[in-house]
Amino acid sequence: TANPKQLVRDPGLLVVSNRMPVSVKRTAEGSYRLDKPSGGLVTGLSGIDKGASFSWYGWPGLPVPEEELQDLRSVLKEQHHAVAIPLDDDLADLHYNGFCNSTLWPLFHYEGCFSYNRGDWEAYQRVNQIFADRLAADCVDGDVVWVHDYHLMLVPEMLRKHGLLFNKKITIGFFLHTPFPAGDHFKILPTCKELLAGVLGSDMIGFHTASYAKNFKATCTSILGHKISHSKVFLGKRSVHVKVSPIGIDPDSFTRELAKPELRRLSDSLRDTYKDKRVLLGIDRLDYIKGLPRKIEALTQLLSQQPEWIGRLVLIQVVVPSRQDIGENQELFSTLNRLADEANRQYGKSVSATYHDLLTHIIFSGSDGYQPVTLLHSNVPFNELVTLYNAADICLVASTRDGMNLVASEYVASQQEHERKGVLVLSKFAGAAEQLAGSVQFNPWCLDDMVDALTKALTMSESERASRHEQNRKFVVQNTR
Ligand code: F6P
Repeated sequence: TANPKQLVRDPGLLVVSNRMPVSVKRTAEGSYRLDKPSGGLVTGLSGIDKGASFSWYGWPGLPVPEEELQDLRSVLKEQHHAVAIPLDDDLADLHYNGFCNSTLWPLFHYEGCFSYNRGDWEAYQRVNQIFADRLAADCVDGDVVWVHDYHLMLVPEMLRKHGLLFNKKITIGFFLHTPFPAGDHFKILPTCKELLAGVLGSDMIGFHTASYAKNFKATCTSILGHKISHSKVFLGKRSVHVKVSPIGIDPDSFTRELAKPELRRLSDSLRDTYKDKRVLLGIDRLDYIKGLPRKIEALTQLLSQQPEWIGRLVLIQVVVPSRQDIGENQELFSTLNRLADEANRQYGKSVSATYHDLLTHIIFSGSDGYQPVTLLHSNVPFNELVTLYNAADICLVASTRDGMNLVASEYVASQQEHERKGVLVLSKFAGAAEQLAGSVQFNPWCLDDMVDALTKALTMSESERASRHEQNRKFVVQNTR
């Protein structure tokens, strides 16, 4: 029977992703706190027009008892348009740490740590069904449901079946925030057919780049035998539109932040600390796809081959905590600490003054000492992030594969016209490389190539820096979210 509340709601947009725009965290005192999750999806979608009938569905991130969930629900809805779909802890673990992050994540990023087991797959199906059932119950005629990312690839088809069942006309979109791999690689997955069929339940499917869209369409033919044309996959009576729409950022939010006197002060003080040095910056989630150890190795190789840079070049690498239950990420953290210690012991000079400035998370080495690598394992508030981007001479993105990588765009947006016009040194295998043609691109699997790219960025003329920056800036300001 129809819920009377639903009859009065106007049709609207229902965004669906594994996480809501805020994650629920439990405090030491046992109450709840709402945090913005890290990563591109929430950043990329935060500019969506949130009309009266807008809702964003997702998993709260931890189990919340039903009686406590009631209070949270109204805060989530009123302040964030968010609707929590709670999941039992064990089921969430098999879905998130299991099938999503031990199977699909490595598979889509061509990583050898890919594993598959049926229990995880069953959990994935169950979670997707829970999401689809909830959406089907809440949808009204005319709604647009926009499903996001690899956690929920079965939802479009499951929802379509509900839609037919209840005779509601809803439009279903799906957007993948990761790469979509080549068919020969995708078919390693024993359930590749089911996943493709799940996504094809959509009316429209979006990817960041033309090569991901091409891979997807080719896979629909090679694995499912569907006919394809330029931008369509034909499934008997229905066709599905496949679109390339690279996610963007809101560059104005960076410009506004940069105009604040407090930020100018922070940026000047950071520049002052590093006045006789070049600053290389990295901002990444702690994830094995981000090529983090290679960045330290490249810096070390550069210092050994070009000793004139010793004392004059530093790497500040922010490592945002992420997916901490994944073993590969835990190992990665100790590897990074070890590599940073080795580089600092080999090339550093006693750091006589370290201090906590207003950038509370950042420990800068005093100007008379030298610490080649500073690792900051922390979330960084927006004003500090913009300060770092603004003050850095080079931003280094070294992902071995990456759906898009919004750090690249954020760096470009934080470099002011009249200032130093920093150079973006970007892996060829980040989706952003298809858009940001002014970057210096390199193959992250080849250390020599990364060192060459860094050298080029360090020695580039001011006019080349300016023209490359302008090329990137045009894309970033035109391709807003
Ligand atoms: O880039 C893929 C992605 O899943 C994003 O969609 C998301 O914002 C980010 O990784 C962080 O992921 P998680 O939800 O696992 O913290």
